[in-house]
Amino acid sequence: MNIPFFTNKPSEESFRYLEGNKPNHIAIIMDGNGRWAQKRGKARVTGHKEGISTVVKIAKAAVKCKVKVLTLYTFSTENWKRPKTEVDTILRLPKEFLHLYLPDLMAHNIRIETIGETEHLPAHTREAIRYAMERTRDNDGLQLNFALNYGGRHEIINAMKKMLADLNGANLSLDELDDQQVSEYLYTAGMPDPDLLIRTGGEKRLSNFLLWQLAYTEFWFTDVLWPDFSEKEFLQAVEEYQQRKRRFGGL
Ligand code: FPP
Repeated sequence: MNIPFFTNKPSEESFRYLEGNKPNHIAIIMDGNGRWAQKRGKARVTGHKEGISTVVKIAKAAVKCKVKVLTLYTFSTENWKRPKTEVDTILRLPKEFLHLYLPDLMAHNIRIETIGETEHLPAHTREAIRYAMERTRDNDGLQLNFALNYGGRHEIINAMKKMLADLNGANLSLDELDDQQVSEYLYTAGMPDPDLLIRTGGEKRLSNFLLWQLAYTEFWFTDVLWPDFSEKEFLQAVEEYQQRKRRFGGL
């Protein structure tokens, strides 16, 4: 079934098409902020700032689609290599985002969580996140995960270290170790693996995102740059996902 999209703002009717075979968890690599700004003759950081309004738009679209978890790649362990002014701007965005949109998140029953090595973020970023997590703790709608100082390989190494410590301390036995057990040592413990990964901005790679969790995830790529990404493309991705046959290695 094709959803009739004529505008960037789909009607309420468009969301009603999306019954059945819905993704529970969607992960997004929000790429293209820098190019979006440069195309307009502006500094790259303008693109990141513009990107926060897309975040709230897409979180609300996910609520309408009854998605349970939305995980956004916000700052990777590799992003520290960028110029300091850009890093500083990105790490101030959580505070700016919450200042602008916390009431909106509350009104939509959205709970904020993070994945990644957040303990190594600047104090102001940690404080903004701590406050948001505390304020939204009792919301039981969409779980909005910000991947901050996140790296898939780091996550797996951390998990291995914790597993080895538990093996040595006899809290875990080698016989118990299976997919499910390993998942419990990751930042995403207790969450379903993503059903759908969306990457904006035209590149087709994982960039060290959720390496373990994406084993059987469906991928959807678009050339649209993150600040231009709209409900329209989000619904297209969900609708395409609904038409895919997932076999998990079977027939
Ligand atoms: C990648 O685009 C984007 C990032 C590294 C930052 C993503 C951050 C946001 C969208 C802001 C949201 C933040 C919060 C907390 C709501 P890029 O800079 O690599 O783009 P390019 O490929 O065009 O250079």
